[in-house]
Order: sequence, then C-alpha cells, then structure tokens
Amino acid sequence: MEENINLDWSNLPFGYIKTDYNVRCTYKDGAWGEVEVTDSEYINIHMAATCLHYGQEIFEGLKAFKGKDGKIRIFRLEENAKRIQRSANGIKMAPLPVEKFREMVEKVVKLNERFIPPYGSGSSLYIRPLEIGMTAQVGVKPAVDYLFIIFVTPVGPYFKEGFKPTKVAIYREFDRAAPCGTGRWKVGGNYAASLTAGELAHKGGYSAVLYLDPKEKKYIDECGPANFFAIKGNKYITPKSNSILPSITNMSLQQIAKDMGLEVECRPMLLEELAEVDEAAECGTAAVAAPISEVDDIDEKKTYVISKDGNPGPVTTKLYNHLRAIQLGDEPDTHGWVTVLD
Ligand SMILES: Cc1ncc(COP(=O)(O)O)c(C=O)c1O
Repeated sequence: MEENINLDWSNLPFGYIKTDYNVRCTYKDGAWGEVEVTDSEYINIHMAATCLHYGQEIFEGLKAFKGKDGKIRIFRLEENAKRIQRSANGIKMAPLPVEKFREMVEKVVKLNERFIPPYGSGSSLYIRPLEIGMTAQVGVKPAVDYLFIIFVTPVGPYFKEGFKPTKVAIYREFDRAAPCGTGRWKVGGNYAASLTAGELAHKGGYSAVLYLDPKEKKYIDECGPANFFAIKGNKYITPKSNSILPSITNMSLQQIAKDMGLEVECRPMLLEELAEVDEAAECGTAAVAAPISEVDDIDEKKTYVISKDGNPGPVTTKLYNHLRAIQLGDEPDTHGWVTVLD
C-alpha cells in the first residue's frame, strides 16, 4: 500500500491530477477480455484508428465520496453503466456489460483510495470511463476492436465562492447537437461542437451556454454540460427533448422533488416560460445543482431575470443539500442509488 497523500483537498481544481492506477479492458474477436490494471497514463493507438478520424469515442462521468463513517460511496454506478451502453449502441460501438463496468469502477476506486478527498473537504473522486474505436481503417464504418478505460482524479468543490447563482447566455448561431443527432448520447463530438459557444460565454462573464432546441429554437434544451430545471410554485419543470443528454443528476433530483411533495413535469419547455419561473438551475455530476440568476438571449437582446436578490432559491437549495447528503451518506439512501465499498 502506498503512503497517504497530502493534497490541498478543499482547493483542488476541476482538472487532472495523476493517480496511481487506471483499469482497461479490450474488445477483440467479438468479446470483452479480462480487466487489466496499469500505472501508465498513455495508450498506444494506431494512427488510422476510428476514434481518431470518425469520432468513435464515448465517455461517462461519476463520482466517489468519503463519508463521515470513512466508507467510500459511489453515486449511481449502474445508471452510468447503462448510459454508456446506450452511447455505444448509438454510434455502433461494442457495449460493455454492466457487471464489467461495475468491476472496473470498484477496482479503480479501491486501487486509488488514497486519492479520495476526505469528508468535509467538499471535494470528491471523479471517475472517468471512456471507450474508443481501435481498428485501423480509412473507410467510414465502425471499428471491430475497442478499448475501454477508467481513470480517476480528485476534483475540487464546484462552488469555490459558495453556492451562488450565475448568469447563462443563449447564442442562437450555435447548436451542440442536431435534432435527431447524437445529443442524447455522451459522444466526444458533441463537446467539440460546444467549444466555440462555451468560450464566448466564458469571455462574456457567463458560467455556461443555454442551448435551445436545434430545430425550432423555441424550447429550452440544456445548459452546456448540464441539464436545466426550473421551479414554479409547487412544480419542478425540466425540458424533454431528443437532443439533450438524459442527466442522472436530473433524474435523481426529480425523484427527490417528488419525495418532497413537488409535482414533476418533464415536457418541452418554451423559452418564454422563463419570464414566470421562481427558480432555475443547471444540474449535473460536477455541481449537482447550480442556480441561475439570469438568462441573456444575446441575439434577441432579451434578458430573463430569475433571481432578483442574487441568492439561490429555497427549493433549489433544498434539492442540492438533500442530494449531496445522500452522496456523502449523511441521509439514508432510500432509493438504492449508492454503492458502498468497505
Ligand atoms: C451534455 C450534458 N448534459 C447533462 C449532463 C449532466 O449529466 P449527469 O447528471 O449524468 O452528470 C452532462 C454531464 O454528464 C452533460 O455532458
């Protein structure tokens, strides 16, 4: 066992810090092989591999936490396993069995236990599974060989200055996905498509881009690498769309909202509805829920002010606190979302 590691746990960036090991599994001759452990951060890829030319790359993002009781908790492992299977099927890659995904996640987390931030630091261990097409070919067709890797890296709290609402922007000349394209899967190309608008937003002082539906530009889709929800009276409203990634955090928040007695509406949500909501937020693994103070529709020169006093709304705050508490083991895991490692 390696010795304990001392990082500035409460001030880690959302970046990459080298850990001890990563795990890998290869798909060859129509079958997945044994899980391998390596300390190398590099992969040997043929220059004609499909992942390098035709975007056969899919990934996931989930987190492990250290509880007050010292136990390690992994949040919604199975849902992430199922989502990367859907992504694989979506772009004709070999889907990894859920049980293999579980074996790989548990193994890589245990092997890098000394990198799991302590309880109370606000930080967590980010788990990044990815799969790439490895076959060398120049014709546009799916690979026959695949490599699945999972690495981990400790990441800092999303809210360095506290849980405060931020502004988001709409840039109508950019879409991250096509109406019947790959937006519903976690495919690398979707993120490449989002980089220009993302940079514009950050330069403009916005935390993210709010994307409208790519077909009509009438409905809200999602918020950069996060889903969107709004609170109106006793309702939790979240967009239903074929071009957004079904967020596992959003799915969990909807359940918590129901448990709290809120009514959940998952339906196409018109942009104009923002004029009448009480609260709005982005939601995803990185932040859980990040409240939105204002939405600026840049090209239409229209602003929707959501938080008039600049503070997070009470319902978003409650949802955020409750989900965090389940992840850390401070609240009971009544829905069976958490994998506890001893
Ligand atoms: C495009 C996109 N939407 C939404 C999300 C949020 O999903 P989750 O809650 O599963 O992290 C992510 C992050 O994974 C994302 O990349």
